[in-house]
Amino acid sequence: MTNGNNQEIFRNMEFKTKVAYCEIHGEYDSRCRLINYWTPCPQCQAVATEKRNEEQRISDERQKQERVRKLICNSELPTRFTDRTLDSFVADTPQKKRALSLASEYAEQFDDVLQTGRCALFIGRPGTGKTHLAAGIGLHLMNNGYSVRYTTVNRLIRRIRSTWSRASEETEQQAIAAFSRPALLILDEVGVQYGSEAEKISLFDVINERYENRMPTLLISNLDRNGVAEALGERVFDRLREDAGRVVAFDWESARHTTVMKAALDETNPKTSTTQQNAGSGVPCTAIAGD
Ligand SMILES: Nc1ncnc2c1ncn2[C@@H]1O[C@H](COP(=O)(O)OP(=O)(O)OP(=O)(O)O)[C@@H](O)[C@H]1O
Ligand SMILES: [Mg+2]
Ligand SMILES: [Zn+2]
Repeated sequence: MTNGNNQEIFRNMEFKTKVAYCEIHGEYDSRCRLINYWTPCPQCQAVATEKRNEEQRISDERQKQERVRKLICNSELPTRFTDRTLDSFVADTPQKKRALSLASEYAEQFDDVLQTGRCALFIGRPGTGKTHLAAGIGLHLMNNGYSVRYTTVNRLIRRIRSTWSRASEETEQQAIAAFSRPALLILDEVGVQYGSEAEKISLFDVINERYENRMPTLLISNLDRNGVAEALGERVFDRLREDAGRVVAFDWESARHTTVMKAALDETNPKTSTTQQNAGSGVPCTAIAGD
């Protein structure tokens, strides 16, 4: 009420006006409402506001880049793949176009993916770009603020197994949580080799924990669909297929041998590239290891 009254009084106060002079912009109309407060040059004011906005924008952008850098470091995506974006994937055949389009859709509709926990499975021959496209999805997500974790099955099992030792400072639950919490888990080299039944259970624990919390997992394997089902066991495989989980088959020649791809690889090599692909390129990670 008092505030309203004050505003009313303020509105009814009379302006005094005069022509003032700005060193830069010349004459302008200055107004005075309060004793001895004359409005400054409007053009100088506009320039100052614009400068403040620009500084704010730069500071926001820096903070965002720093957040993305930390996400990329914490994701443990191998350095080789931190510049492998969706944009740098060469889709020169209909099959590759389809794989790229499914990967892009998964990344762009990640809000929906998170609602259902929809998983994806990239299977196929070596060198066909499975890890590249998965990294592309991961980088896209991290650029949009989502947490991502990359691991191979062997590394995941090793980390969990190391908690079984008495000397371990980490509990098994903590190790499992490290893989279950990120918005997306990329699980590479599924089916490469398994150790004991107990180790297979560790993998089940992680996938099951994510499944129960509707957290999506992206699996990558050189095996075919049946091979993956066998390697993971029916219980795990069933969980992955729920909620319209997609299988993408990478069924073409290895990029490690083709000339077109070699040219593309040279272009995406940070040492020779002239184009900055994404915020992921050349991330210095050692500084925040263990964050
Ligand atoms: N379509 C593509 N466009 C650009 N680069 C590609 C393409 N396919 C593969 N590459 C590049 O070729 C190399 C091998 O690809 P990648 O490691 O993703 O294959 P992969 O299918 O994961 O193989 P593996 O099964 O052996 O792990 C990477 O450097 C990747 O960036
Ligand atoms: Mg790979
Ligand atoms: Zn001025």
